[in-house]
Amino acid sequence: MTASPSAIQSAAEILCAGGLVAFPTETVYGLGADATNGRAVAAIFAAKGRPSFNPLIVHVPDIKAARALCQWSDAADDLAAAFWPGPLSLVMPLRADTPLSELVSAGLPSVALRIPDHPAALALLRATDRPIAAPSANPSGRISPTTAAHVLAGLQDKIDAILDDGSCAVGVESTIVGLTDTPRLLRPGGVATSDLERALGSPLSAPKPGISAPGQIASHYAPSASVRLNARAARDGELFLGFGDISGDLNLSPSADLSEAAANLFACLHTLDAKSAPIAVAPIPESGLGRAVNDRLRRAAAPRA
Ligand code: TXA
Ligand code: MG
Repeated sequence: MTASPSAIQSAAEILCAGGLVAFPTETVYGLGADATNGRAVAAIFAAKGRPSFNPLIVHVPDIKAARALCQWSDAADDLAAAFWPGPLSLVMPLRADTPLSELVSAGLPSVALRIPDHPAALALLRATDRPIAAPSANPSGRISPTTAAHVLAGLQDKIDAILDDGSCAVGVESTIVGLTDTPRLLRPGGVATSDLERALGSPLSAPKPGISAPGQIASHYAPSASVRLNARAARDGELFLGFGDISGDLNLSPSADLSEAAANLFACLHTLDAKSAPIAVAPIPESGLGRAVNDRLRRAAAPRA
């Protein structure tokens, strides 16, 4: 349904009753459930076919709601002031009196929180007046959805409603920063690392090897076809995803704009994947949002488990 005020109200009622609602954010479409309702959160894992050790991001409408769920810190203050609402998730220690289902954090003593920069998402969060857990609204391991049609293609018979508000402006998931000890980059995403470091006034640490963002399994975001990276041209039978001057069947950004490439990435992969041929991708610079684009591409290209 189109994200009208009455649709948002019905979507909020479905969420409060324990249902699943897919909704737009500025990054990708999320598959939302009431984060205080364990059965509703479990339904997310079931719908996505997601490994249950993988914790979810909790969405809130304002900083007050975020502070009610975690042990807030000065670093959180700095980053929230600079980037919320926006494509940044902060992982913080849980409060002892947390109302969140433990499934949300998959047993970890921390929670990932974010305020999305999207009017329909914010209206939905205010209307439910409770924290909403929402991973990307795609079957686990597949390409993230940046339109309502992508969501329906993967999850149509598994969700109770979808709010349709066109395509997502940022197009890659939020950057995740861990604030449980020294600030760490857990996943590159919609906010560039250099901008985060400027706001913090210090460099971000690397993730601790092996843990921290369990969702960071290698084969992820995968089209059904094989993906070959840093290609200069298509080989026989391949579809080519271009960038800048290297054009192809599709081009992530003819003007070599990395923000545009991020916004187009998943839609391009969906379009090429529908043609069931191997995909080759032009080199993307490892700077700014190019880091997030390359991270997603490397996962799309990784051998399947
Ligand atoms: O842009 C986004 O972040 C989108 C939209 C819908 O908001 N959501 C999203 O969620 O990408 P998801 O579930 O696909 O990715 C969640 C990531 C996973 O890599 C997970 O492991 C990590 O967040 N994560 C969640 N809670 C965590 C925690 N307590 N500690 C470490 N990593 C956590
Ligand atoms: Mg995802």
